[in-house]
Amino acid sequence: MLASGDTGKSTLTITDNRTGKSYEVPITHETIHATDLRQIKVNVDDFGLMTYDPAFMNTASCKSTVTYIDGDKGILRYRGYPIEQLAERCTYLEVAYLLIYGELPNKTQLTEWAAHITTHTFVHENIKKLMDGFHHDAHPMGMFVSTVAALSTFYPSAKHIADHKERELTFYRLIGKAPTLAAFAYRHSTGMPFVHPDNDLSYVGNFLNMMFRIAEPKYQPHPILEKALDVLFILHADHEQNCSTSAMRSVGSSHVDPYSAAAAASAALYGPLHGGANEAVLHMLDEIGSLDKVPGFIRDVKEGKGRLMGFGHRVYKNFDPRASIIKRLADQVFEVTGRNPKLDLALELERIALQDDYFIKRKLYPNVDFYSGLIYQAMKFPDQMFPVLFAIGRMSGWLAQWSEMVSDTEQKIARPRQIYLGYGKRDVPMLSQRQ
Ligand code: ACO
Repeated sequence: MLASGDTGKSTLTITDNRTGKSYEVPITHETIHATDLRQIKVNVDDFGLMTYDPAFMNTASCKSTVTYIDGDKGILRYRGYPIEQLAERCTYLEVAYLLIYGELPNKTQLTEWAAHITTHTFVHENIKKLMDGFHHDAHPMGMFVSTVAALSTFYPSAKHIADHKERELTFYRLIGKAPTLAAFAYRHSTGMPFVHPDNDLSYVGNFLNMMFRIAEPKYQPHPILEKALDVLFILHADHEQNCSTSAMRSVGSSHVDPYSAAAAASAALYGPLHGGANEAVLHMLDEIGSLDKVPGFIRDVKEGKGRLMGFGHRVYKNFDPRASIIKRLADQVFEVTGRNPKLDLALELERIALQDDYFIKRKLYPNVDFYSGLIYQAMKFPDQMFPVLFAIGRMSGWLAQWSEMVSDTEQKIARPRQIYLGYGKRDVPMLSQRQ
């Protein structure tokens, strides 16, 4: 079937007005190949035409079958399945399997997968020593990034990235150990002893156990909170070529081991414009403090004095489907934990922003992070743990994308071009001649 309009041709004709020459370049999947532009030159020895696209606003860096997003319609699907159905009908471990292997597991596959993950939740004793070395007030995300990187030294054979057995082991280990590292980072920061994994519990139940168990002989997670966190992990599991996933792919394209690449992805997630946003939302709500300060805050944002954190998205320009699910989830969680008093502030901010021209014109809507922090806080997670929680959920997405990238024969080491605007050649003056 032809993808083009009525001409029957899937090509683009470009006329270079500098030379009057015309070029025809193929269009595939609504995309032209950037290297096809290199033939466009004024002189034979020119480098050829490039595209300039800071922050990759309109550049596809890969072909992928993992996640589909339609930002205008507010659609998010993993491997074709709508996020709403996955959140309702699956567990996080089923979704992680789906992302990595492309299909949902059947019962036998799920039992095996869960067993593999569960048997890889423990970490080497030296990891604990490593964590003990962090300062008492070290940010748990900093500890998480460093210990994920450190895992590469414990599993050096993971560098054989073409070996499928090694890849599988890495999936089990990184998905299995991410909650353990996260919980240990938290326990270290509170001066509490580390709690070993309890493999009788679910993936999320065990994480809550390692986070919050004190003296009870057997930790029993609240089923509603356990389900809510599981859904949050599902919602955060993948989001196609976002900043941290691009980091995972870009660093992984050097063929470094996947632990090092996952550490780079975690580092990217740490930033306040990405996984740090939900932490920033709570700080913002704290700063606003009371309902009467909301209009003033919105006015400041419109005057360019800061951003309304948890609002806006590079891709979603209508609504973030994850935000709608989270808003419903918040009600269920607050029934158990009691209402988070900051919810009223958040609702008021949302109400005002959604009818304000500034936000309407720029298509700024609540994103996944606007309400997730309120839920985490109600569940007693400290603010600093929010990006770490995001990283646990996103680990499966990073691994699925990494695995796709290393198997993709069209991929090479990531290496963008630049437009050089610096000096032309000049001679180095002697020290005595420099002003
Ligand atoms: N508050 C106020 N104004 C905003 C906001 C915001 N949250 N987001 C964007 N704008 C404005 C910008 O100032 C800009 O206005 P201008 O055209 O007058 O200059 C316009 O909207 C476009 O903004 P960009 O920064 O160009 O949009 P971009 O797509 O690059 O940014 C981003 C997306 C980073 C998410 C941005 O909306 C933002 O900073 N949001 C707050 C942080 C946040 O919530 N991040 C979480 C993202 S979701 C995630 O990572 C899981």
